[in-house]
Amino acid sequence: MDTLTPGGTGSVPSVSPVGTNQSPSAPPPLTGQSMTPWLVVAMAVILFAGALFGYDQGVISGALDGIKKSFVLTPLLVEVVTSWVTLGAMFGALAGGELADRFGRRNAILFSGVLFTLGAAVQAFAPVTAVLVCGRLIVGAAVGVIAVAAPLYGAELAPRTLRGRIVSGYQFAITIGIFLAYLVNDWLSNAGSWRVMLGSSAVPGVLLLLVAVAAPESPRWLMKMGRRPEAKVQMQKIRPKVDAQDALNMIDKALREETESAAWSEIFHRQWRRPLMIGIGLAVFQQITGINAIIYYANQIFASAGFALSSQATLTTWAIGGVNVAATVIALAFVDRWGRRKLLLGGLFGMGVSLAVLGTAFRFIVPAAPGAATTAPSVAGIITLCGLVAFIISFAASIGPVTWTVITEIFPGRIRGRAVSICTAFNWLSAFVVSQCFLSMVDAAGSSLTFGLFALFCVIGWIWIFFRVPETKGRSLEEIQQTWRSAH
Ligand code: BGC
Repeated sequence: MDTLTPGGTGSVPSVSPVGTNQSPSAPPPLTGQSMTPWLVVAMAVILFAGALFGYDQGVISGALDGIKKSFVLTPLLVEVVTSWVTLGAMFGALAGGELADRFGRRNAILFSGVLFTLGAAVQAFAPVTAVLVCGRLIVGAAVGVIAVAAPLYGAELAPRTLRGRIVSGYQFAITIGIFLAYLVNDWLSNAGSWRVMLGSSAVPGVLLLLVAVAAPESPRWLMKMGRRPEAKVQMQKIRPKVDAQDALNMIDKALREETESAAWSEIFHRQWRRPLMIGIGLAVFQQITGINAIIYYANQIFASAGFALSSQATLTTWAIGGVNVAATVIALAFVDRWGRRKLLLGGLFGMGVSLAVLGTAFRFIVPAAPGAATTAPSVAGIITLCGLVAFIISFAASIGPVTWTVITEIFPGRIRGRAVSICTAFNWLSAFVVSQCFLSMVDAAGSSLTFGLFALFCVIGWIWIFFRVPETKGRSLEEIQQTWRSAH
């Protein structure tokens, strides 16, 4: 992983996962050393946070069928129920940085734990669609806040040597959360218990609350707030073998040396236009190539491809959820060896080809008559399945995780927090647009053309990445910054 310290040098690996909005004023992580019991507790907080995030992303896929039976939903309402989590997340992410800065990293996580639990309960007991949509918005806000607070908390608490693993563990936890949601969907699909599916995220929500209540607050945040005695207590807990006074003095020095956060206007300065365009471009291409249409609507896609109801949830679980987890490991293993560009270009190529195959296969799928029992899938149905698996592998090994890696690498410390939050907001916005429009597009233009459009975005994305996104592997932040300077 490339080097990213606030000063721009050093060897701190920094992967910022989905929705990360690193605080503009986040001081550098502590150097050195090993895992301690309190760090394990902090790690548990981060893993629970990621898994909850993923769970709430994935669970809707299995719940939709049941919801449609309980409420009368037009295609537009199906999209609203599905996609308003991303809308809530966009606002949650924008508020998350402020909450984490003002009330503390741990308190922001606790707050999102409360929101998760509340949102789960509202969804589970929703008597009408409007209440269900409110529940989806509340859960979305929780996803947005935690997407900012958890990685920030991890990055600040982790010793330098463990930081990359701890923060990327969060990203990995998201894919595990999606996978778990699919397992629950599969398990409960026969019972048609969509209320249990959506409500069950209250369980990890409460677990997150319990772990976060016990977890230490970030000593860096306490120092930033001028609460040194409390920072000392937390530091002694987290790093018993380190001289707490020395460590706090280092933090104090870093805080003093850190320049003021840049004004919003500086982010749009000509000098940073290129990295900003790269960050926004990657965030948008990551979504408009269709990942969340598949994550959210996998069951429906399998249904239209002719798979029987009994096999849809199982396929979604393993072919989408399981493959997503496994392929994420590939990216984590190779992103530093092969570099970002190779993974991005290779992945987008794979995504484009698989989407083209999907689009073509759908041309040959004859839709079953309404109410007709689904028989075995046709050859085109099997090809659809292979196309979906190939798409997920290509995404998870490339633009999925690499987007977040690159976004946190390309900005100088002074504007990083705010610039990353802008890119993140564009990511949620694009996720919202895609999940909001997918079913209507399928309705209006058909599956073939819809997947064809996603494939076209892959081609445009590939060309854009080829010409515009530089390789950042193995370069210090100063070198990367220099690239933008010399471009002017
Ligand atoms: C994306 C999410 C997506 C997830 C799937 C992330 O990188 O930002 O929108 O649901 O990957 O694993």
